[in-house]
Amino acid sequence: MSLVILKIGGSVITKKDSVSRPRKDEIDRISKEIASYVTENEVTDKLVLVHGAGSFGHPQAMRYNLNEKFDTKGVYEIHKSVKELNSIVVDSLNDAGVNALPVHPLSSLLLENGNIVDSSPEKFNLMLERGAVPVFHGDVVMDRIKGAAILSGDRITPYLSVMLGASRIGAGSNVDGVIDDTGSVIKKISPPGFVDMKKHISGSSSTDVTGGMLGKVSEFVELSRVGVSSRIFNASKKGMVTKFLYGEDVGTLIADK
Ligand SMILES: Nc1ncnc2c1ncn2[C@@H]1O[C@H](COP(=O)(O)OP(=O)(O)OP(=O)(O)O)[C@@H](O)[C@H]1O
Ligand SMILES: [Mg+2]
Repeated sequence: MSLVILKIGGSVITKKDSVSRPRKDEIDRISKEIASYVTENEVTDKLVLVHGAGSFGHPQAMRYNLNEKFDTKGVYEIHKSVKELNSIVVDSLNDAGVNALPVHPLSSLLLENGNIVDSSPEKFNLMLERGAVPVFHGDVVMDRIKGAAILSGDRITPYLSVMLGASRIGAGSNVDGVIDDTGSVIKKISPPGFVDMKKHISGSSSTDVTGGMLGKVSEFVELSRVGVSSRIFNASKKGMVTKFLYGEDVGTLIADK
């Protein structure tokens, strides 16, 4: 039995330049790609999904700057918004035939200075054993030091990959991979090369409070240091999620060696 973890970018499933605008057609298309993979592979493979917050989280997090001051209303408003997107995604997956269940980080994880320090793998493993697909999302989460902090889907994904022992990990965004200074997709990034490449990677062209592409690559480079590789690819292009799920070499590989 192998485990696949896929993060779907908020840039793909929402209109990231607006506020709280889903891309329903894209969500439904991706749900169908996932559904046909799950139907064909339910005996051999398990799947965990994580999605980004896009326009349901980044603008709201900017508005209630929790880094400056803890604010229960801010926590409530940010969580309410990302939960709304999560419901749209989970409903779409179920409509397509995937046994998807929502998992809200606010009520299932704990942070210390932005890093996940506590969770209980048992409940997630039980979901997987029973044939369900847990669907996590970028969220606001209680933090021992900060009170509350924004936790990106890009940080949840590597954490779950190690905790649950995933064999294939990918993040689908709205670009073909990590792009170099000439505009080409970088085939592979490993920790030593990342030091130089960093200057060509920036945040996001839209509002993104968790570092955009540079934040994402940094998280996955850290993951590669413990021997776990991952891919960043374009989930906005039809068929790419399917290709990733079936193990094709899509986008940029981030690996230790
Ligand atoms: N070198 C680079 N290669 C590729 N994308 C880059 C690069 N530098 C900056 N970017 C930007 O990063 C964006 C993708 O990151 P972003 O965080 O916005 O997407 P996401 O992770 O899909 O969304 P979310 O954070 O809502 O889940 C691209 O749309 C692009 O504008
Ligand atoms: Mg992002």
